[in-house]
Amino acid sequence: MKSLSAVALLSLSAVVNAHGDHHHRRHNLVARQNSASATRSFTYSGATNPTAIPLPSIVAGAVSRPVVPIASTPAAGAKPTAGFSNAPGVPDLTEFRKNVLANKYPEGDKVPAVNSPEVLQWMEEVQNSGIQIPALETTVEGGSCQANLPLASDASRCWWTCNNCDAKEDVVECNQPNHWGISFDDGPGFYTHELLDYLDQERLKATFFVVGSRVLYLPEVLQAEHIRGHQIAIHSWSHRPLTTLTTEQVIAELGWSKKIIKDTLGITPNQMRPPFGDMDERVRKISLAMGLTPIMWTRSDGLVFNTEDFDVAGGTRTVQQVLTNWQNIIQAAGRLTDNGFLTLQHDLNQQSIDIAAGYIIPDGLARQLTIEPVITCLDMPMANAYIETNDNTTNPPTAKLGIFNKKATSAGVSVTSGTLGSIFVGTALAFASLFAGF
Ligand SMILES: *[C@@H]1O[C@H](CO)[C@@H](O)[C@H](O)[C@H]1NC(C)=O
Repeated sequence: MKSLSAVALLSLSAVVNAHGDHHHRRHNLVARQNSASATRSFTYSGATNPTAIPLPSIVAGAVSRPVVPIASTPAAGAKPTAGFSNAPGVPDLTEFRKNVLANKYPEGDKVPAVNSPEVLQWMEEVQNSGIQIPALETTVEGGSCQANLPLASDASRCWWTCNNCDAKEDVVECNQPNHWGISFDDGPGFYTHELLDYLDQERLKATFFVVGSRVLYLPEVLQAEHIRGHQIAIHSWSHRPLTTLTTEQVIAELGWSKKIIKDTLGITPNQMRPPFGDMDERVRKISLAMGLTPIMWTRSDGLVFNTEDFDVAGGTRTVQQVLTNWQNIIQAAGRLTDNGFLTLQHDLNQQSIDIAAGYIIPDGLARQLTIEPVITCLDMPMANAYIETNDNTTNPPTAKLGIFNKKATSAGVSVTSGTLGSIFVGTALAFASLFAGF
């Protein structure tokens, strides 16, 4: 599913310049909204953006809106306008584009080679970090917990997906109740600019967990996210489940992602989210050794705060199911008395963006949640989201184990109850769909 999206992403680039009329596009949206409202059947009780795409139009195979170039490309040297006073200006992209054309970066959506000078250097840095990388075997891709039975039932692995385990280093919640750390994974994408416009309109900031290799095609979108005040964090190079990769490959995935973002923005993120939430003790320690704090999404009262918005484009979930998920998330979040929450949402497909901008965010606003990037929901300024601008005293670099999770368990492993066997059966069922498509 992921590689198909990537192919679509690549083939779409040809039409980027073919349809530039933003206003024309808006008219089409309004027309579609009016004609489709008669067929609406699902009643959604949450708040809605008045210009929302109607629910019957948010379906798999929906007609793709024309892709338009981002309205304004940041000038070299531009900086975020507020809340980040020590940000350096963004680099001119001429050099970057030359390097892309000269194949100085690994191929898009493929695991990078591990024998390049860059990767060898990063391996040495990991070795010198003082953080021990446990010699855990790789998991089997494809992969449910069921396909990995012995590994999935080894609680000491603290495999987020299969052990129902939040390690003390994992960020799984925000610090304050009613704060929602909002994030979008898998971009930059061809519709991300629509989401940026909506967020500007509502004066909201978010976190974008970007797929490093997608920056090859859309560096100006990444710059726009940063300049417009959003947080950029890492979501790997090729969007593979990281526990299936060798330690060298994980280092290559994270290292190249750090590098392409640094080359595009002038600063390097210090937070990462593993694709599919696929994090275990080995991947976790590699991330920390590379200065990256793992950011997961909240699980509470047996509910995983995954909107499943990604699955609408693929046809395995409907928009109605996603909005039901959202309503369940909101209820479970309301029962978190000490902490706020983190969700899983995406900006790669127009369906995910339509659901966020049309329904989920307007509802969060109506409920008067504080909607903010992950870094500020941890009570830190935007500067602390990057290695170069981080205040290293209040937010110690992760190579020295900066730990934010208030719910840390001393063993680093929190299993709920019962024997390992029964925990496995329970979590395998609960998380059986986790590898299905995000
Ligand atoms: C924090 O440490 C990094 C190196 O890890 C350095 O580049 C940065 O300038 C430091 N931050 C401050 C505010 O001095």
